[in-house]
Amino acid sequence: PELFFTIIILSYLIGSISTAIIICKILNLPDPRTQGSNNPGATNILRIGGKKAAIITLVGDGLKGMIPVLIAHYLDLDTLNITWIIFAAFLGHVYPIFFSFKGGKGVATFLGALLALSYPTGLSFIITWIFVAKVLKISSLSALVATALTPVYFYLITNNLIATYVIISICIWIFYTHQSNIKRLFNNQENKIN
Ligand code: G3P
Repeated sequence: PELFFTIIILSYLIGSISTAIIICKILNLPDPRTQGSNNPGATNILRIGGKKAAIITLVGDGLKGMIPVLIAHYLDLDTLNITWIIFAAFLGHVYPIFFSFKGGKGVATFLGALLALSYPTGLSFIITWIFVAKVLKISSLSALVATALTPVYFYLITNNLIATYVIISICIWIFYTHQSNIKRLFNNQENKIN
């Protein structure tokens, strides 16, 4: 139990490192929290800093989810425990201790963690995201559709009902972090990907 608790804390701390904010500092770009959608995430970095910076943000935030899961695998933790570890990394990204608890929306970190925990689930997420993005060209909607389907993918692939409940909780939280996007979607004012 001490080990599990330590990894939960470590995972939260890793999640708390905002790739977007750090990349913008390094590349001398404006603070993503005051530009575009005000979100320190890959989509907003694409608006502010272009493709390369966005990809670095996506990979960096993805690794924050992936690394804790890889550590957990190394320690032979089971799937249910790993989903809690993913929750901790996700919460770190959304409520980062290093950035006055104001972070991003958690999609990239969640995806990175999924890829490490259940590669087919992560891949299904990516395929769904790309499909919706190709058709509708809206990042937030792509993320929301992929998020809504993820518990179904995860359950069908892992057959682990209790772990699926934890995944569902994270997915509900992702909808919560996208409140402003959902409002814009309903008002037909959401930004398109160009
Ligand atoms: O998942 C976050 C992304 O889909 C939306 O980002 O910057 O448009 O709020 P943003």
